[in-house]
Amino acid sequence: MIESNPNTILLCLMSNTFDISSLSRMRLNSSLDMGGFDCACPDLNDFIRNDALKYSNELMSATFVYFFEKIPVAFISYSNDKITANAEKWNSVSRHIPNKKRIKAGYPAVKIGRLGIAKDFHGQKIGSQILDFSKGWFLDENKTGCRFITLDAYNRKGTLAFYEKNGFKYLETPTPTKFTVLMYFDLAQLLA
Ligand SMILES: CC(C)(COP(=O)(O)OP(=O)(O)OC[C@H]1O[C@@H](n2cnc3c(N)ncnc32)[C@H](O)[C@@H]1OP(=O)(O)O)[C@@H](O)C(=O)NCCC(=O)NCCS
Repeated sequence: MIESNPNTILLCLMSNTFDISSLSRMRLNSSLDMGGFDCACPDLNDFIRNDALKYSNELMSATFVYFFEKIPVAFISYSNDKITANAEKWNSVSRHIPNKKRIKAGYPAVKIGRLGIAKDFHGQKIGSQILDFSKGWFLDENKTGCRFITLDAYNRKGTLAFYEKNGFKYLETPTPTKFTVLMYFDLAQLLA
């Protein structure tokens, strides 16, 4: 349920693209109330309402929330990751790495553990802009040596289409028995 300035919100909801520069971005902390957040996915709602802060306190993931005025509009969680040689599509990943730099132990990555957009804001390019921001953020100064973004996408046509449109490729084949599908984005392609 949306509260706060109804006229501004109505204008934003009618737009095809909601510019995320008008949102404030905050690290999840105990003072933020995410109890009413609803992205239409029970697993993700449960994570942000009940678990995200616990993971954050254990240094297991970092969650950021985007607010429009006082309304939580989206959240994203990151954790460190790596792509290892037992990945099904390891050869496709390695193809873009010069021979001498190939490391069997794995390539450094950051994982988008969870991404949810509040259901009233779906389809306004907020998810895509958050992915774009994330790509730039991890590439900027590349502070920890991070080559790839990885994620486990829900194995649903719409979710996979969303990540494909945002340049993510498959790290494994999306067969019908899989609940989630590993995908990746190569940050080096932005360096041209
Ligand atoms: C999936 C989700 C993150 C997408 O965010 P969003 O802000 O609604 O998506 P965008 O507006 O940026 O969509 C970008 C493109 O992906 C497509 N897309 C997004 N969701 C889609 C869906 N369910 N079915 C088909 N295509 C979809 C859009 O049509 C759009 O294509 P276009 O550029 O040709 O118009 C969001 O809808 C969501 O939170 N869903 C519920 C939770 C979830 O499934 N999270 C993903 C966990 S892996």
